[in-house]
Amino acid sequence: MKTFTIVHAALVQFIIIQLLVVPTLSLVSRTGPKTGPTPSKPPQTPTSTVSDSSVSDSSVSLPPSPIVSILGPPTPTVWSHFASLQTPQTINLGQGYPSTSPPQFCLDSLQETVKSGSRIHQYTKSDGHPPLVEQLCKRYSKHMGEEITEENVAVTVGASQALYLSLQTLISPGDEVLIFEPYFDLYINQIKLAGGIPVPVPLDYAVNPLSGQKEWLLNPTTLSNSITPKTRCLIFNSPHNPTGKVFTTSEMSTISSLLLPHSSRITLLSDEVYKYIIHSPPPSSPPTSPPGHTMISSLYPNTLTISSSGKTFSATGWQVGWIIGPKPLLKPIKQMLPYVQFCACSITQDALAKALPLSDSTYTLNGIVYKDYYEYLKLSYVKRRDALIEALEGAGFGVPDYEKVGGGGFFIFAEVTEDIIKRVKESTNGKEYFEMGRTKDWALCEYFIKEVGVGMIPSSPFFSEERVKEGISEKFVRVAFCGEVEDIEEAGRRIRCKEGGDVEACEI
Ligand SMILES: Cc1ncc(COP(=O)(O)O)c(C=O)c1O
Repeated sequence: MKTFTIVHAALVQFIIIQLLVVPTLSLVSRTGPKTGPTPSKPPQTPTSTVSDSSVSDSSVSLPPSPIVSILGPPTPTVWSHFASLQTPQTINLGQGYPSTSPPQFCLDSLQETVKSGSRIHQYTKSDGHPPLVEQLCKRYSKHMGEEITEENVAVTVGASQALYLSLQTLISPGDEVLIFEPYFDLYINQIKLAGGIPVPVPLDYAVNPLSGQKEWLLNPTTLSNSITPKTRCLIFNSPHNPTGKVFTTSEMSTISSLLLPHSSRITLLSDEVYKYIIHSPPPSSPPTSPPGHTMISSLYPNTLTISSSGKTFSATGWQVGWIIGPKPLLKPIKQMLPYVQFCACSITQDALAKALPLSDSTYTLNGIVYKDYYEYLKLSYVKRRDALIEALEGAGFGVPDYEKVGGGGFFIFAEVTEDIIKRVKESTNGKEYFEMGRTKDWALCEYFIKEVGVGMIPSSPFFSEERVKEGISEKFVRVAFCGEVEDIEEAGRRIRCKEGGDVEACEI
């Protein structure tokens, strides 16, 4: 546990602002590792206008502090580049947040909270608003089969801050943190900011003999060989961003058996932000599994479970996240919390506390009655996913067959086939995009956003530099289906019109 001074606290607050406030201002512009190819004409970004002589800011010439230097120069990233190519007409299937409204019971809860008097508009407890903590204790006791009390819970500003605090309290300089690759790019800089070394553990993209399909598979030997005396953490993310993989029970047993011998040293960080969006449960998961079957029970004494309300309730701006785990792991987090936040937003915490019990009751939308909100959520994502599959298949991308493989979250890691490259190269202007010295994933995304009006994200930010050089990222793009089904269908229409020679699709 690190000792904290006021200076450290201020520093941490600054970093939190860098990590949380700045990315959320540009929403899709989450800072990623500088692994993406550099665009030949870098777009104008807020950072590039800072050197304008009309701007007089004496702080500009100050060198960044050592901790900020870890982040590298504020150059355009893949996120800021593709955000800059968007127009009001673009259908953005690259963004990682829902464009649908939160369910009515969440909006009602929020309204009720706002009108409930002056007290709720003030600070609440640093480690969590009591009514929300009570709800989380109830739910996680049930999900985990452990007695979860307030000592086992800390509420944070989104799952991002939960990850940040967990890493800050666990990592000493030089400790290694394992992450399955491809990975959610936020992990890299968070690990580095804690003084740790990110160690990617590549998943194999190979035919699974059980499904007969190509899937992202855990390779036990690769994981076992990645564990060293310096390994301090494994970040486990299921459903997985960016691949949509849901780890199977057998893969979770493998992780458990490989980690258990090191359990006095290695902590599992289980990032479960998509746990309620399992649109296709993996065939090997028992049918009785509760949502969020990602729990590796045998590792509970060494696990910090991280989640948030953003994806589940289409409310990423609410920024309510949390950490659940055993008391010894939570204690340093609770000690650190008041120095990085006075509290997470009391209003959204209170609204969520009201909404959670309602989410378990029957849910009615457009005259259809669902068992609960989660049943609706799953069916709604199945619908959106299928619309996206149709669009991607129409363009010639390879997509998983969810009749045979598991899937969760709201991304498809679509395979770049020879067919799609051929079609794009044959289309008007298409060839030019491949002649700009960029990788194929990058060229395709640039082509689709500029020529078809459909945004998607190249896969390079989700891979290490080494793997990008090997060419793996050229084979995938990440496409999201968290928008309205009509928009996804419109994206499909545009693609079929442009790519498929479907004349009818071109008629608006
Ligand atoms: C895998 C994963 N973990 C964590 C987060 C961050 O969640 P939050 O918005 O609650 O900070 C995201 C957001 O995209 C994510 O994809």
